[in-house]
Amino acid sequence: MVEVSTSILTVKDGEEAQTFLGLEKAKTDYFHIDVMDGKFVEKNTYNKMLRYSEYIKRLSNLPLDIHFMVEDVKKAIDDFGSLEPNIMTFHYEACKDNQEIMKNIEYIKQYHSKIGISVKPETKIENIYEFLPYVHMILIMTVEPGKGGQTMLSTMIQKIEKLKKYIEENNYEIDIEVDGGINLKTMNKVKKAGANILVAGTAILLAKDYSKIIEELKK
Ligand code: DX5
Ligand code: ZN
Repeated sequence: MVEVSTSILTVKDGEEAQTFLGLEKAKTDYFHIDVMDGKFVEKNTYNKMLRYSEYIKRLSNLPLDIHFMVEDVKKAIDDFGSLEPNIMTFHYEACKDNQEIMKNIEYIKQYHSKIGISVKPETKIENIYEFLPYVHMILIMTVEPGKGGQTMLSTMIQKIEKLKKYIEENNYEIDIEVDGGINLKTMNKVKKAGANILVAGTAILLAKDYSKIIEELKK
């Protein structure tokens, strides 16, 4: 089964409530929250995403899928963990060594949230294999993290396939989420490669009919 996590990064000011409610009605499976700190990536969406997450928590019962593009992962886990997200995902590249990765995993656990690790396009997927027994999801960035509306990097397809194969060979139960440039044109390739959670921002938010596109993405 394929699930859809809608990135609300580019929701228009003043249209937050109607957009969030519209997405819930259109059966998005998650709200994807892109937390940026102005250091790990150029943009800073930190406080805005905290506000949006609090707002969604009041408005909806749908799960929060939080993607930390930040250097200070521990602080972000504390700030967003109190909102009881379904899953918190941090970047492999934000951690100085493997020990720090394991520490972040343990830290997320304290909030009873699921755990994800994300990899940037240039990071080899083999680097995260040793953490697979401890996480629920791997988020493969299919664009350079930092902004919405980019074109999917087609070379990421092999990376998804490779991870899927490794997960199956080892009988792990881990979700593969893809993020960046996912739309009706690119979705089939990533699904075929093994992704089962698709993040889409621009493709959904710019669509006239949220239900229709979300339904298509899930097929
Ligand atoms: C990029 C973010 C994505 C992005 C998705 O750094 O992690 O979640 O906003 O947006 P689209 O679907 O527009 O590529
Ligand atoms: Zn994201």
